[in-house]
Amino acid sequence: MKETIAVLFGGQSSEHIVSCMSAANVIDQIDKEKYNLLLLGITEEGRWLLTKSVEEIRSGAWRDGKVTAVLSPDASKKCVTVSVPAGKECAAELAAALNAAGLDLPYAADERDADEAAPEEQPDDKQGTQPGSRVEKEQPGSVPGDPQPDSALRAACCCEIPVDVVFPVLHGLYGEDGTVQGLLELARIPYVGCGVLASAVSMDKLYTKTIVDDLGIRQARYVPVMREELKDMDAAADKIEADLDYPVFVKPSNAGSSRGVSKARDRASLAAALTEAARHDRKILVEETIVGREIECAVFGGGLRPVEASGVGEILAAAEFYDFDAKYYNSESRTVVDPDLPGDAAEKIREDAMAIFKAVDGYGLARVDFFVDAAGEVIFNEINTMPGFTAISMYPMLWEARGVSKSRLVEKLIAHAKERYADGAEEVRHG
Ligand SMILES: Nc1ncnc2c1ncn2[C@@H]1O[C@H](COP(=O)(O)OP(=O)(O)O)[C@@H](O)[C@H]1O
Ligand SMILES: [Mg+2]
Repeated sequence: MKETIAVLFGGQSSEHIVSCMSAANVIDQIDKEKYNLLLLGITEEGRWLLTKSVEEIRSGAWRDGKVTAVLSPDASKKCVTVSVPAGKECAAELAAALNAAGLDLPYAADERDADEAAPEEQPDDKQGTQPGSRVEKEQPGSVPGDPQPDSALRAACCCEIPVDVVFPVLHGLYGEDGTVQGLLELARIPYVGCGVLASAVSMDKLYTKTIVDDLGIRQARYVPVMREELKDMDAAADKIEADLDYPVFVKPSNAGSSRGVSKARDRASLAAALTEAARHDRKILVEETIVGREIECAVFGGGLRPVEASGVGEILAAAEFYDFDAKYYNSESRTVVDPDLPGDAAEKIREDAMAIFKAVDGYGLARVDFFVDAAGEVIFNEINTMPGFTAISMYPMLWEARGVSKSRLVEKLIAHAKERYADGAEEVRHG
């Protein structure tokens, strides 16, 4: 029987749109002969919607969807609950939505509508083992014998679809930061990528700094600033200027895709940069500016498999730094795989990337980003536990250069997600 993969995309993050681009590319590479796909889009407001096709993701039409689909935390079910508002033909609507994912409702022939009583639970109901194992009318406001349920509580026609693996193609907050991973741990559903701890510490640049300091790997000198400190902007600037010379880089501790990142050359632009970063996070990081080339390395593995690093790739940003536009909209930004680097910088980057991945308790995948200065010195910048998978993204490109096609890479990630549970999740996560 085909397995079912739920792909999560979008999300309540400033990288929402990047996640949609990444997810479309991941979905293109998933073997449809082998897997049924449930495409679960999360809007910026946090609504979870079942999406019919990858085209809807590319066009953005998925945001107008009416069928909701949420991951249940119930580990005895390991399922996605799909629902439409109750009404005539609601079972048919559900069936149509699921058919788009290659799934059938066992009750599809039973054209019940919301005016009929909810079905008795079947004694032979193999909940959690068969796709579309249950269709039921849910009326949260009603109790047996209550003829008039609270009209504010809407009835829904819903069913539970067992899921074998989740691929959270989510970047940034509420997706790459351990939150969704926590839900998946509760549900005990295998999922691609890093667990709760690795996701959370890698998302938080200040915490990553502490771990990388401990490894003795060089990184930009930094000053942490809390949003509350900006109430006295002069005192905050004094604190920063006591440790760092201009220009400095100012960034939210938890963000990505260069959202909220800016370069400050003086006190006035420092205040503006701090204010902007504070819009994204309570914790702000101010760093010395590193003058150097931007080099990235892809990592795969962990758990029962050895950790492997790809070759390295260089970002040639068509802007003063690699800001959001330069990353996704400036076609003059380029990437070069296996660039010429001084001395043993490439090998040092590969080693550091694997060491950092292990130190954060990484599992599955990550892209680790560095600078290389004119003297060939390697300086760590950041780690991304759900790196971009867009058409121009470095993570898949670096593996392709090592002979791993995009489809093979996606299959390896899915297989690795399942391995995490094969020998007991605890053993892998804590052993
Ligand atoms: N300390 C620094 N020195 C020089 N450039 C930096 C520094 N920090 C960030 N940058 C520039 O800003 C970009 C985005 O910063 P980064 O720390 O990678 O955050 P994000 O998680 O948003 O990608 C980097 O790709 C780089 O171009
Ligand atoms: Mg970056």
